[in-house]
Amino acid sequence: MCGIVGYVGKKEAFPILINGLQRLEYRGYDSAGVALLNSHLRIYKCKGKVSDLIEHVKGKNTEGNIGIGHTRWATHGEPNDVNAHPHLSGNGKLAIIHNGIIENYATLKEMLLKRGHSFLSETDTEVLVHFIEEIQESERVPLEEAVRIALEHVVGAYAIVVISKADPHRLVAARKSSPLVIGVGEGEYFIASDATPIIEHTRNVVYLNDEEIAVVDLENGLTIRTIENQPKTPFIEELEWSLEMLEKGGYDHFMLKEIHEQPNSITDSMRGRLHADLGVILLGGIKDYEQKLCNARRIIIVACGTSWHAGLVGEYLIEDLARIPVEVEYASEFRYRNPVIYESDIVIAISQSGETADTLAAIELAKSKGATILGICNVVGSSISRTTHAGAYTHAGPEIGVASTKAFTAQLTILSLMALRIAHLRGTIAEARYRQLLNELEQIPQKIEKALELEDQIKYISNVFQDTAHFLYLGRGYNFPVALEGALKLKEISYIHAEGYPAAEMKHGPIALIDEEMPVVVLATNESAYEKIISNIQEVKARRGRIIAITTEDDERIHSLAEFVIQIPRTEEPFSPMVSVVPLQLLAYHIALLRGCNVDQPRNLAKSVTVE
Ligand code: AGP
Repeated sequence: MCGIVGYVGKKEAFPILINGLQRLEYRGYDSAGVALLNSHLRIYKCKGKVSDLIEHVKGKNTEGNIGIGHTRWATHGEPNDVNAHPHLSGNGKLAIIHNGIIENYATLKEMLLKRGHSFLSETDTEVLVHFIEEIQESERVPLEEAVRIALEHVVGAYAIVVISKADPHRLVAARKSSPLVIGVGEGEYFIASDATPIIEHTRNVVYLNDEEIAVVDLENGLTIRTIENQPKTPFIEELEWSLEMLEKGGYDHFMLKEIHEQPNSITDSMRGRLHADLGVILLGGIKDYEQKLCNARRIIIVACGTSWHAGLVGEYLIEDLARIPVEVEYASEFRYRNPVIYESDIVIAISQSGETADTLAAIELAKSKGATILGICNVVGSSISRTTHAGAYTHAGPEIGVASTKAFTAQLTILSLMALRIAHLRGTIAEARYRQLLNELEQIPQKIEKALELEDQIKYISNVFQDTAHFLYLGRGYNFPVALEGALKLKEISYIHAEGYPAAEMKHGPIALIDEEMPVVVLATNESAYEKIISNIQEVKARRGRIIAITTEDDERIHSLAEFVIQIPRTEEPFSPMVSVVPLQLLAYHIALLRGCNVDQPRNLAKSVTVE
């Protein structure tokens, strides 16, 4: 997710843009830039943080009372100076900033290349500004009309602001699926990704709706039209939030915000890749390696922490659906145990940050043995993404909370798409089952939305167990990795000792731990092993263990066995981890909160372990 700021008014734009971008830096970025208009259209942009941009423009002309600014969270093209926003049209008269993904940018680019356009960057955004220019030149229409026509042909998500040398008092903005807020000041206007950069200037804001275009003009004020060219009356609201709350989107912590972002982050990770209605999965990043994947004798997954738990779900998915042997390795163990690695091996490296030292070292080892390395990363241009042969980015947006939540479910999304794609290519899945799973995968964001509605019940349960010294998490099949992940979430933010175990393994030792002091979280959403899970619950109950059961909405039996029952929407088993993990994330969060722990920056932890 990128940060967007625009200004037009009586003041100098540059300091307002920079301050706004600094307000948005919680959104994460890998490059930043501004475009300033004062008879000349000047663009200053560079890889790195906003502070690097400030250094970059020292001594340069930053005059102008209209401008746009952008912090980039790369989706297309490495983080570097060229790919940074703003991007210029071919004639140098238009500048654009963009947050989102233009899914059909390749088709548009091909058409524009045939019409003589040339491009400097790898971004989808540069294609869009050239498209707007092409329309303005060919149709001889005003900027806002050219933007409207262009967006009628765009597929994907966008929040854009465009300025033109020909209109030095006008900003044109539009959005679809990515947020945009307009601040209405005294003789000045602000546009931003959210209200954070605006609130210190004015509390009067207009939230642009999907498929609306706003024209902000110092002479004519604010006008809004739809993509279908229907006029809309701007609805001005008064901001009530504090700045601090805004940076967390109104949530108390980034972790809670990111837990609640999961329906959107999963949707973003599927965007342009899952076409359930057509029965098509497109993973462009690994397209050239699909045959290698299909013919692989073995797939090795290397990762750490939560990403390792995602890898374990990946093993169940790929073996269950695509019938290829998978081994999941802790990267730190793999790199030192002198493993057997064949040239025919495919190694999948999973990492949110893309900078984890042990995972990077494991990749280098496997590469040195001739294996093919694919990556699943959340940070474009990260070290791991640049070391792998190919990969698929999770589009979860920056994950600020140290405890990984939305990155985990985004990783599962990619692994699900990968497993289904390989299974379909290998013919190891019946067409009807394949289509059924694609349709179900498309429903996962909505099912997570429903699971999030259980937060109040989970808060109550958190109150009951906030002073507990130990927790046990049990799961079978696809839910075994979820038991591990739930235990890790609790450990790392509440400092309560917790263990995740395969439910059947409990009899081989951990059952000795069970007494009336021991809460046992049991994941019971599996259809295939439900009776076995019920037996495990009865074994715990017989020893007076306190049972917290995560089960499906239609489960009537479990209420007589468990002290607390959290009921989530049923889904196909391969996708159950994406839904069953949500109550465990919330349980860990609320228990940690009650214990006064620093949820976003737990003691002793770092967001990315770049050291061994
Ligand atoms: C998860 O909540 C932890 N923050 C940690 O285990 C993390 O998953 C691990 O360090 C791996 O990080 P990566 O995904 O960035 O490689």
